[in-house]
Amino acid sequence: MRILYATSEARPLIKTGGLADVSGALPVALRAIGLDCRLLLPGYPAVLAGVDAVKPVCTLNELPGGRVATLLEAAMPDNGVPLYILDAPELFQREGGPYQDVAGHDHPDNALRFAVFSKAAALLASSEFSKNAPLAWRPDILHCNDWQTGLAPAYLRLAGETTATVMTVHNLAYQGIFPPADLITVGLPPESFAVEGVEYYGNLSFLKAGLYYADRLTTVSPTYAEEIRQPALGMGMQGLLAARGDDLVGILNGIDSGEWNPSSDHHLPCKFSSRALIGKKHCKLKLQQDLNLEPSHDTPLFGIIARLAQQKGLDLILAVADGILHRGGQIALLGTGEKALEVAFRDLCAQHPGRVAAVIGYDEGLSHRIEAGSDLFLMPSRFEPCGLNQLYSLRYGTVPIVHATGGLQDTVEDGVTGFVFHEPTPHALWLAIERALHTYTDAKAWQRMMRAGMKRDFSWEKSAREYEALYQKLVG
Ligand code: ADP
Ligand code: GLC
Repeated sequence: MRILYATSEARPLIKTGGLADVSGALPVALRAIGLDCRLLLPGYPAVLAGVDAVKPVCTLNELPGGRVATLLEAAMPDNGVPLYILDAPELFQREGGPYQDVAGHDHPDNALRFAVFSKAAALLASSEFSKNAPLAWRPDILHCNDWQTGLAPAYLRLAGETTATVMTVHNLAYQGIFPPADLITVGLPPESFAVEGVEYYGNLSFLKAGLYYADRLTTVSPTYAEEIRQPALGMGMQGLLAARGDDLVGILNGIDSGEWNPSSDHHLPCKFSSRALIGKKHCKLKLQQDLNLEPSHDTPLFGIIARLAQQKGLDLILAVADGILHRGGQIALLGTGEKALEVAFRDLCAQHPGRVAAVIGYDEGLSHRIEAGSDLFLMPSRFEPCGLNQLYSLRYGTVPIVHATGGLQDTVEDGVTGFVFHEPTPHALWLAIERALHTYTDAKAWQRMMRAGMKRDFSWEKSAREYEALYQKLVG
Protein backbone atom coordinates (compact mmCIF):
# COMPACT_ATOMS: atom_id res chain seq x y z
CA MET A 1 0.00 0.00 0.00
CA ARG A 2 1.34 3.42 -0.97
CA ILE A 3 0.75 6.42 1.30
CA LEU A 4 1.63 10.03 0.60
CA TYR A 5 2.00 11.75 3.98
CA ALA A 6 1.58 15.48 3.34
CA THR A 7 2.73 17.68 6.20
CA SER A 8 3.99 21.21 6.76
CA GLU A 9 6.72 20.12 9.22
CA ALA A 10 8.76 17.02 10.06
CA ARG A 11 11.71 16.66 12.37
CA PRO A 12 14.66 16.74 12.13
CA LEU A 13 14.26 19.10 9.16
CA ILE A 14 11.69 21.62 10.35
CA LYS A 15 9.74 21.80 13.62
CA THR A 16 7.50 24.18 15.52
CA GLY A 17 5.64 21.60 17.63
CA GLY A 18 4.44 18.05 18.06
CA LEU A 19 3.27 17.74 14.43
CA ALA A 20 6.94 17.59 13.42
CA ASP A 21 7.64 14.81 15.93
CA VAL A 22 4.73 12.78 14.58
CA SER A 23 5.57 13.40 10.90
CA GLY A 24 9.20 12.47 11.56
CA ALA A 25 8.35 9.18 13.27
CA LEU A 26 5.04 7.76 12.00
CA PRO A 27 6.21 7.24 8.38
CA VAL A 28 9.19 5.27 9.73
CA ALA A 29 6.84 3.07 11.77
CA LEU A 30 4.52 2.58 8.78
CA ARG A 31 7.42 1.55 6.59
CA ALA A 32 8.62 -0.85 9.28
CA ILE A 33 5.32 -2.75 8.98
CA GLY A 34 5.59 -2.92 5.21
CA LEU A 35 3.74 0.16 3.91
CA ASP A 36 5.33 2.36 1.27
CA CYS A 37 4.87 5.68 3.04
CA ARG A 38 6.50 8.80 1.58
CA LEU A 39 6.59 12.36 2.84
CA LEU A 40 5.72 15.61 1.09
CA LEU A 41 7.15 18.82 2.62
CA PRO A 42 7.34 22.44 1.46
CA GLY A 43 10.81 23.53 0.31
CA TYR A 44 11.69 25.80 3.23
CA PRO A 45 15.38 26.76 3.44
CA ALA A 46 15.92 24.36 6.39
CA VAL A 47 14.45 21.47 4.40
CA LEU A 48 16.60 22.10 1.33
CA ALA A 49 19.70 22.57 3.47
CA GLY A 50 19.03 19.43 5.50
CA VAL A 51 18.93 16.83 2.72
CA ASP A 52 21.54 15.46 0.32
CA ALA A 53 21.23 14.17 -3.21
CA VAL A 54 18.20 16.14 -4.27
CA LYS A 55 16.83 15.13 -7.67
CA PRO A 56 14.31 17.18 -9.67
CA VAL A 57 11.35 15.03 -10.71
CA CYS A 58 9.01 17.30 -12.62
CA THR A 59 7.48 20.73 -12.90
CA LEU A 60 4.03 21.30 -11.45
CA ASN A 61 2.18 24.06 -13.23
CA GLU A 62 -1.51 23.72 -12.53
CA LEU A 63 -1.10 25.47 -9.21
CA PRO A 64 -3.20 28.24 -7.60
CA GLY A 65 -2.31 31.82 -8.52
CA GLY A 66 -0.68 30.60 -11.73
CA ARG A 67 2.31 29.44 -9.70
CA VAL A 68 4.83 26.97 -11.00
CA ALA A 69 6.87 24.73 -8.70
CA THR A 70 9.46 22.02 -9.01
CA LEU A 71 8.95 18.67 -7.36
CA LEU A 72 12.21 17.38 -5.88
CA GLU A 73 12.97 13.90 -4.68
CA ALA A 74 15.25 13.21 -1.70
CA ALA A 75 15.31 11.15 1.50
CA MET A 76 14.88 12.04 5.14
CA PRO A 77 18.20 12.28 6.99
CA ASP A 78 18.91 9.40 9.42
CA ASN A 79 16.15 7.03 8.34
CA GLY A 80 15.99 7.38 4.55
CA VAL A 81 12.19 7.74 4.31
CA PRO A 82 11.51 8.86 0.70
CA LEU A 83 10.79 12.56 0.63
CA TYR A 84 9.19 14.81 -1.98
CA ILE A 85 9.89 18.51 -1.62
CA LEU A 86 7.74 21.18 -3.21
CA ASP A 87 10.23 23.77 -4.35
CA ALA A 88 8.58 27.15 -4.93
CA PRO A 89 11.24 29.66 -3.84
CA GLU A 90 9.02 32.77 -3.87
CA LEU A 91 6.59 31.04 -1.47
CA PHE A 92 8.78 28.97 0.84
CA GLN A 93 12.34 30.24 0.71
CA ARG A 94 12.23 33.14 3.11
CA GLU A 95 13.35 34.15 6.58
CA GLY A 96 11.38 33.36 9.70
CA GLY A 97 9.43 30.20 10.50
CA PRO A 98 7.19 28.07 8.33
CA TYR A 99 4.11 30.16 9.13
CA GLN A 100 5.44 33.44 10.52
CA ASP A 101 8.07 36.04 9.72
CA VAL A 102 10.97 36.90 12.05
CA ALA A 103 8.78 39.40 13.91
CA GLY A 104 6.22 36.70 14.68
CA HIS A 105 3.52 37.87 12.23
CA ASP A 106 1.81 35.39 9.93
CA HIS A 107 3.23 35.48 6.41
CA PRO A 108 0.68 37.62 4.51
CA ASP A 109 0.36 35.08 1.68
CA ASN A 110 -0.23 31.98 3.83
CA ALA A 111 -3.49 31.24 2.00
CA LEU A 112 -1.65 31.03 -1.32
CA ARG A 113 1.40 29.23 0.14
CA PHE A 114 -0.60 26.38 1.63
CA ALA A 115 -3.12 26.28 -1.20
CA VAL A 116 -0.19 25.65 -3.55
CA PHE A 117 1.16 22.99 -1.18
CA SER A 118 -2.27 21.32 -0.87
CA LYS A 119 -2.81 21.41 -4.62
CA ALA A 120 0.57 19.76 -5.19
CA ALA A 121 -0.42 16.96 -2.78
CA ALA A 122 -3.72 16.54 -4.62
CA LEU A 123 -1.97 16.42 -8.01
CA LEU A 124 0.46 13.74 -6.87
CA ALA A 125 -2.52 11.68 -5.71
CA SER A 126 -4.61 12.11 -8.84
CA SER A 127 -5.02 9.56 -11.61
CA GLU A 128 -5.13 12.24 -14.31
CA PHE A 129 -1.70 13.54 -13.26
CA SER A 130 -0.10 10.12 -13.04
CA LYS A 131 -1.22 9.28 -16.54
CA ASN A 132 0.96 12.06 -17.98
CA ALA A 133 3.57 12.67 -15.29
CA PRO A 134 7.13 11.46 -15.10
CA LEU A 135 6.48 10.37 -11.48
CA ALA A 136 5.45 6.75 -11.77
CA TRP A 137 4.62 6.47 -8.07
CA ARG A 138 0.99 7.17 -7.21
CA PRO A 139 -0.37 6.82 -3.68
CA ASP A 140 -3.41 4.70 -2.75
CA ILE A 141 -3.98 7.05 0.19
CA LEU A 142 -3.33 10.74 0.59
CA HIS A 143 -2.82 11.39 4.32
CA CYS A 144 -3.19 15.10 5.18
CA ASN A 145 -2.27 16.82 8.43
CA ASP A 146 -3.77 19.98 9.91
CA TRP A 147 -5.06 23.05 8.08
CA GLN A 148 -1.94 23.52 5.95
CA THR A 149 -2.98 20.49 3.87
CA GLY A 150 -6.75 20.82 4.40
CA LEU A 151 -7.53 21.95 0.86
CA ALA A 152 -6.01 18.83 -0.73
CA PRO A 153 -9.09 16.59 -0.22
CA ALA A 154 -11.26 19.42 -1.58
CA TYR A 155 -9.17 19.80 -4.77
CA LEU A 156 -9.26 16.03 -5.32
CA ARG A 157 -13.00 15.63 -4.80
CA LEU A 158 -13.96 18.70 -6.79
CA ALA A 159 -11.88 17.37 -9.69
CA GLY A 160 -13.84 14.12 -9.54
CA GLU A 161 -10.84 12.08 -8.37
CA THR A 162 -11.45 9.09 -6.14
CA THR A 163 -8.10 8.54 -4.41
CA ALA A 164 -8.80 7.85 -0.72
CA THR A 165 -7.97 10.66 1.70
CA VAL A 166 -7.36 10.79 5.45
CA MET A 167 -7.31 14.06 7.37
CA THR A 168 -5.60 14.09 10.76
CA VAL A 169 -6.37 16.89 13.20
CA HIS A 170 -3.41 17.58 15.45
CA ASN A 171 -5.01 20.68 16.90
CA LEU A 172 -8.49 21.98 16.14
CA ALA A 173 -7.53 25.42 17.45
CA TYR A 174 -5.55 26.19 14.29
CA GLN A 175 -8.02 26.29 11.42
CA GLY A 176 -6.42 28.24 8.59
CA ILE A 177 -9.14 30.88 8.33
CA PHE A 178 -8.99 33.43 5.52
CA PRO A 179 -11.37 36.07 4.12
CA PRO A 180 -13.92 34.90 1.53
CA ALA A 181 -12.03 36.75 -1.24
CA ASP A 182 -9.24 34.17 -0.89
CA LEU A 183 -11.54 31.62 -2.50
CA ILE A 184 -10.28 33.08 -5.77
CA THR A 185 -6.64 33.05 -4.57
CA VAL A 186 -6.86 29.32 -3.85
CA GLY A 187 -8.82 28.56 -7.01
CA LEU A 188 -11.89 26.86 -5.56
CA PRO A 189 -15.27 27.14 -7.34
CA PRO A 190 -17.86 29.52 -5.82
CA GLU A 191 -20.27 26.66 -5.06
CA SER A 192 -17.74 25.17 -2.61
CA PHE A 193 -18.19 28.27 -0.43
CA ALA A 194 -21.12 26.78 1.47
CA VAL A 195 -21.94 25.19 4.82
CA GLU A 196 -21.66 21.92 2.90
CA GLY A 197 -18.15 22.88 1.82
CA VAL A 198 -15.31 25.16 2.85
CA GLU A 199 -17.30 28.02 4.39
CA TYR A 200 -16.90 28.62 8.11
CA TYR A 201 -18.87 31.46 9.73
CA GLY A 202 -18.57 33.61 6.61
CA ASN A 203 -14.89 32.87 6.00
CA LEU A 204 -12.86 30.26 4.18
CA SER A 205 -11.42 27.55 6.47
CA PHE A 206 -8.71 25.23 5.16
CA LEU A 207 -9.26 22.85 8.07
CA LYS A 208 -12.99 22.67 7.45
CA ALA A 209 -12.28 21.82 3.81
CA GLY A 210 -10.31 18.82 4.99
CA LEU A 211 -12.92 17.83 7.56
CA TYR A 212 -15.69 18.07 5.00
CA TYR A 213 -14.07 16.46 1.96
CA ALA A 214 -11.71 13.80 3.37
CA ASP A 215 -12.93 10.20 3.46
CA ARG A 216 -11.79 9.53 7.01
CA LEU A 217 -10.89 11.84 9.87
CA THR A 218 -8.51 11.03 12.66
CA THR A 219 -7.19 12.86 15.64
CA VAL A 220 -4.34 12.07 17.96
CA SER A 221 -6.04 10.56 21.02
CA PRO A 222 -9.32 8.75 21.71
CA THR A 223 -10.43 11.26 24.35
CA TYR A 224 -9.82 14.26 22.05
CA ALA A 225 -11.82 12.48 19.34
CA GLU A 226 -14.78 12.53 21.75
CA GLU A 227 -14.15 16.03 23.08
CA ILE A 228 -14.20 17.72 19.68
CA ARG A 229 -17.74 16.52 18.99
CA GLN A 230 -18.89 18.77 21.86
CA PRO A 231 -19.27 22.57 21.91
CA ALA A 232 -16.68 23.10 24.69
CA LEU A 233 -13.71 21.91 22.60
CA GLY A 234 -15.26 21.61 19.15
CA MET A 235 -14.17 25.17 18.23
CA GLY A 236 -17.27 25.61 16.08
CA MET A 237 -16.64 22.39 14.11
CA GLN A 238 -18.57 20.17 16.57
CA GLY A 239 -21.65 19.98 14.33
CA LEU A 240 -19.69 18.71 11.35
CA LEU A 241 -17.59 16.37 13.50
CA ALA A 242 -20.63 14.92 15.23
CA ALA A 243 -22.33 14.44 11.87
CA ARG A 244 -19.26 12.61 10.58
CA GLY A 245 -19.13 10.57 13.81
CA ASP A 246 -18.57 7.20 12.17
CA ASP A 247 -15.70 8.54 10.06
CA LEU A 248 -13.77 10.03 12.99
CA VAL A 249 -11.38 8.02 15.17
CA GLY A 250 -8.73 8.85 17.74
CA ILE A 251 -5.37 7.11 17.31
CA LEU A 252 -2.92 7.88 20.09
CA ASN A 253 0.46 9.27 19.08
CA GLY A 254 3.54 7.28 19.93
CA ILE A 255 7.02 8.58 20.65
CA ASP A 256 10.25 8.10 18.78
CA SER A 257 11.76 5.73 21.29
CA GLY A 258 15.21 5.93 19.69
CA GLU A 259 15.31 9.71 19.97
CA TRP A 260 13.76 9.75 23.45
CA ASN A 261 15.64 7.03 25.31
CA PRO A 262 17.37 7.95 28.59
CA SER A 263 19.81 5.06 28.27
CA SER A 264 21.25 6.30 24.96
CA ASP A 265 20.29 10.00 24.72
CA HIS A 266 23.37 11.88 23.47
CA HIS A 267 22.01 15.18 24.81
CA LEU A 268 22.37 13.98 28.44
CA PRO A 269 25.47 14.34 30.62
CA CYS A 270 24.75 10.90 32.06
CA LYS A 271 22.55 8.02 30.89
CA PHE A 272 20.06 6.08 33.04
CA SER A 273 17.28 3.50 32.90
CA SER A 274 14.52 2.16 35.16
CA ARG A 275 17.00 -0.38 36.53
CA ALA A 276 19.86 2.09 37.00
CA LEU A 277 18.35 5.38 38.11
CA ILE A 278 21.55 6.85 39.57
CA GLY A 279 22.39 8.68 36.31
CA LYS A 280 19.19 10.70 36.66
CA LYS A 281 20.59 12.29 39.85
CA HIS A 282 23.63 13.48 37.92
CA CYS A 283 21.38 14.86 35.20
CA LYS A 284 19.49 16.82 37.85
CA LEU A 285 22.64 18.31 39.42
CA LYS A 286 24.08 19.23 36.05
CA LEU A 287 20.79 20.83 35.00
CA GLN A 288 20.69 22.85 38.21
CA GLN A 289 24.25 24.05 37.57
CA ASP A 290 23.59 24.88 33.92
CA LEU A 291 20.45 26.87 34.74
CA ASN A 292 21.90 28.65 37.80
CA LEU A 293 19.60 26.85 40.20
CA GLU A 294 20.87 25.98 43.69
CA PRO A 295 22.34 22.49 43.36
CA SER A 296 20.44 20.10 45.61
CA HIS A 297 19.38 16.45 45.42
CA ASP A 298 16.38 16.73 47.68
CA THR A 299 14.67 19.79 46.24
CA PRO A 300 11.73 18.76 44.05
CA LEU A 301 12.48 20.20 40.61
CA PHE A 302 9.46 20.97 38.39
CA GLY A 303 10.13 21.00 34.63
CA ILE A 304 8.00 22.80 32.01
CA ILE A 305 8.59 22.72 28.23
CA ALA A 306 5.92 24.28 26.09
CA ARG A 307 4.86 26.63 23.39
CA LEU A 308 3.85 29.61 25.52
CA ALA A 309 0.24 29.64 24.36
CA GLN A 310 -3.11 29.92 26.09
CA GLN A 311 -3.77 26.22 25.34
CA LYS A 312 -0.99 25.10 27.68
CA GLY A 313 -2.51 26.54 30.90
CA LEU A 314 0.70 28.33 31.89
CA ASP A 315 -1.31 31.00 33.72
CA LEU A 316 -2.35 28.24 36.13
CA ILE A 317 1.32 27.53 36.82
CA LEU A 318 2.01 31.23 37.41
CA ALA A 319 -0.87 31.26 39.90
CA VAL A 320 0.63 28.42 41.97
CA ALA A 321 4.33 29.25 41.51
CA ASP A 322 4.65 30.97 44.90
CA GLY A 323 3.15 27.91 46.55
CA ILE A 324 5.68 25.62 44.83
CA LEU A 325 8.59 27.84 45.91
CA HIS A 326 7.18 28.18 49.42
CA ARG A 327 7.19 24.37 49.69
CA GLY A 328 10.89 24.35 48.74
CA GLY A 329 10.48 23.47 45.07
CA GLN A 330 12.40 24.74 42.05
CA ILE A 331 11.05 25.50 38.58
CA ALA A 332 12.83 25.10 35.22
CA LEU A 333 10.92 26.39 32.21
CA LEU A 334 11.86 26.25 28.53
CA GLY A 335 9.49 27.90 26.09
CA THR A 336 8.77 30.57 23.58
CA GLY A 337 5.57 32.15 22.33
CA GLU A 338 3.17 34.79 23.61
CA LYS A 339 5.07 37.85 24.81
CA ALA A 340 2.99 38.34 28.00
CA LEU A 341 3.82 34.81 29.16
CA GLU A 342 7.50 35.22 28.26
CA VAL A 343 7.62 38.39 30.37
CA ALA A 344 5.73 36.77 33.27
CA PHE A 345 8.16 33.84 33.47
CA ARG A 346 11.19 36.12 33.05
CA ASP A 347 9.88 38.22 35.97
CA LEU A 348 9.31 35.15 38.11
CA CYS A 349 12.90 34.11 37.41
CA ALA A 350 14.26 37.57 38.29
CA GLN A 351 12.31 37.58 41.57
CA HIS A 352 13.61 34.15 42.62
CA PRO A 353 17.23 33.75 41.59
CA GLY A 354 18.52 30.25 42.19
CA ARG A 355 14.97 28.90 42.48
CA VAL A 356 13.39 29.60 39.11
CA ALA A 357 15.00 29.30 35.69
CA ALA A 358 13.18 30.55 32.60
CA VAL A 359 14.88 29.95 29.29
CA ILE A 360 12.93 31.80 26.61
CA GLY A 361 13.81 30.23 23.30
CA TYR A 362 13.83 27.00 21.38
CA ASP A 363 16.49 24.47 22.35
CA GLU A 364 16.15 20.79 21.51
CA GLY A 365 19.11 19.61 23.61
CA LEU A 366 17.92 21.52 26.67
CA SER A 367 14.43 20.05 26.26
CA HIS A 368 15.98 16.58 26.65
CA ARG A 369 18.04 17.70 29.65
CA ILE A 370 15.00 19.20 31.39
CA GLU A 371 13.05 15.99 30.82
CA ALA A 372 15.95 14.01 32.28
CA GLY A 373 16.91 16.30 35.16
CA SER A 374 13.48 17.21 36.56
CA ASP A 375 11.59 15.24 39.20
CA LEU A 376 8.16 16.38 38.12
CA PHE A 377 6.71 17.74 34.90
CA LEU A 378 3.86 20.29 34.81
CA MET A 379 1.38 20.08 31.93
CA PRO A 380 -1.90 21.73 32.98
CA SER A 381 -3.11 22.25 29.38
CA ARG A 382 -6.68 23.56 29.04
CA PHE A 383 -6.98 21.14 26.12
CA GLU A 384 -4.40 18.81 24.63
CA PRO A 385 -5.07 16.76 21.50
CA CYS A 386 -2.34 14.30 22.48
CA GLY A 387 0.68 15.97 24.03
CA LEU A 388 4.13 14.48 23.74
CA ASN A 389 6.02 15.97 26.65
CA GLN A 390 4.07 13.97 29.23
CA LEU A 391 5.10 10.85 27.27
CA TYR A 392 8.75 11.92 27.21
CA SER A 393 8.45 12.62 30.95
CA LEU A 394 7.11 9.14 31.66
CA ARG A 395 9.99 7.61 29.70
CA TYR A 396 12.53 9.72 31.64
CA GLY A 397 11.17 8.93 35.12
CA THR A 398 9.86 12.48 35.51
CA VAL A 399 6.44 12.24 37.11
CA PRO A 400 3.86 14.26 35.14
CA ILE A 401 1.13 16.39 36.72
CA VAL A 402 -1.57 16.85 34.08
CA HIS A 403 -5.08 18.15 33.52
CA ALA A 404 -7.55 15.39 32.60
CA THR A 405 -8.05 16.32 28.96
CA GLY A 406 -7.38 14.76 25.55
CA GLY A 407 -4.24 12.70 25.30
CA LEU A 408 -3.13 13.68 28.80
CA GLN A 409 -6.11 11.79 30.20
CA ASP A 410 -5.37 8.81 27.94
CA THR A 411 -1.71 8.45 28.90
CA VAL A 412 -1.23 9.37 32.57
CA GLU A 413 -2.70 7.13 35.26
CA ASP A 414 -3.52 9.02 38.42
CA GLY A 415 -1.59 7.80 41.45
CA VAL A 416 0.22 5.15 39.38
CA THR A 417 2.34 6.95 36.78
CA GLY A 418 1.48 10.57 37.60
CA PHE A 419 -1.06 12.97 39.04
CA VAL A 420 -4.23 13.98 37.24
CA PHE A 421 -6.58 16.83 38.15
CA HIS A 422 -10.00 17.50 36.70
CA GLU A 423 -10.74 21.23 36.71
CA PRO A 424 -8.43 23.67 34.90
CA THR A 425 -8.16 25.92 37.96
CA PRO A 426 -5.18 26.96 40.12
CA HIS A 427 -6.85 25.31 43.11
CA ALA A 428 -7.24 21.90 41.44
CA LEU A 429 -3.67 22.10 40.08
CA TRP A 430 -2.42 23.00 43.53
CA LEU A 431 -4.17 20.01 45.16
CA ALA A 432 -2.48 17.71 42.60
CA ILE A 433 0.90 19.32 43.31
CA GLU A 434 0.36 18.79 47.05
CA ARG A 435 -0.43 15.12 46.48
CA ALA A 436 2.72 14.82 44.35
CA LEU A 437 4.90 16.53 46.97
CA HIS A 438 3.49 14.25 49.63
CA THR A 439 4.46 11.16 47.61
CA TYR A 440 7.86 12.70 46.82
CA THR A 441 8.76 12.62 50.53
CA ASP A 442 8.40 8.81 50.45
CA ALA A 443 11.45 7.77 48.41
CA LYS A 444 10.22 4.20 47.86
CA ALA A 445 6.76 5.19 46.69
CA TRP A 446 8.31 7.82 44.42
CA GLN A 447 10.68 5.36 42.76
CA ARG A 448 7.81 2.95 42.27
CA MET A 449 5.93 5.66 40.43
CA MET A 450 8.94 6.66 38.32
CA ARG A 451 9.52 3.06 37.30
CA ALA A 452 5.83 2.45 36.54
CA GLY A 453 5.94 5.34 34.04
CA MET A 454 9.28 4.31 32.56
CA LYS A 455 7.93 0.84 31.81
CA ARG A 456 4.88 2.02 29.86
CA ASP A 457 5.16 1.34 26.16
CA PHE A 458 4.38 4.34 23.97
CA SER A 459 6.30 3.21 20.92
CA TRP A 460 4.75 3.86 17.48
CA GLU A 461 4.16 0.28 16.42
CA LYS A 462 0.68 -0.12 17.92
CA SER A 463 -0.53 3.19 16.47
CA ALA A 464 1.03 2.39 13.09
CA ARG A 465 -1.06 -0.82 13.02
CA GLU A 466 -4.19 1.22 13.73
CA TYR A 467 -3.42 3.54 10.81
CA GLU A 468 -2.76 0.52 8.62
CA ALA A 469 -6.17 -0.95 9.53
CA LEU A 470 -7.81 2.37 8.71
CA TYR A 471 -6.03 2.62 5.32
CA GLN A 472 -6.93 -0.97 4.54
CA LYS A 473 -10.63 -0.33 5.13
CA LEU A 474 -10.44 2.66 2.79
CA VAL A 475 -8.83 0.89 -0.12
CA GLY A 476 -11.11 -2.09 0.38
P1 ADP B 1 2.38 21.05 20.78
O1 ADP B 1 2.56 20.36 19.51
O2 ADP B 1 0.98 21.47 21.08
O3 ADP B 1 3.34 22.19 20.96
P2 ADP B 1 3.37 18.57 22.01
O4 ADP B 1 3.53 18.22 23.44
O5 ADP B 1 2.65 17.62 21.16
O6 ADP B 1 2.71 20.02 21.97
O7 ADP B 1 4.79 18.73 21.32
C1 ADP B 1 5.66 19.75 21.58
C2 ADP B 1 7.01 19.37 21.04
O8 ADP B 1 7.80 20.55 20.87
C3 ADP B 1 7.81 18.48 21.95
O9 ADP B 1 8.69 17.68 21.20
C4 ADP B 1 8.58 19.50 22.80
O10 ADP B 1 9.72 18.96 23.39
C5 ADP B 1 8.91 20.53 21.78
N1 ADP B 1 9.11 21.88 22.29
C6 ADP B 1 8.15 22.77 22.63
N2 ADP B 1 8.72 23.94 23.01
C7 ADP B 1 10.05 23.76 22.90
C8 ADP B 1 11.20 24.62 23.14
N3 ADP B 1 11.04 25.87 23.56
N4 ADP B 1 12.42 24.12 22.90
C9 ADP B 1 12.57 22.85 22.46
N5 ADP B 1 11.55 22.01 22.23
C10 ADP B 1 10.31 22.46 22.44
C1 GLC C 1 -0.57 19.39 18.29
C2 GLC C 1 -1.18 19.24 19.67
C3 GLC C 1 -0.49 18.23 20.53
C4 GLC C 1 -0.14 16.96 19.74
C5 GLC C 1 0.65 17.33 18.50
C6 GLC C 1 1.04 16.13 17.65
O1 GLC C 1 0.38 20.37 18.20
O2 GLC C 1 -1.28 20.48 20.35
O3 GLC C 1 -1.31 17.88 21.62
O4 GLC C 1 0.63 16.10 20.54
O5 GLC C 1 -0.11 18.18 17.70
O6 GLC C 1 -0.07 15.38 17.24
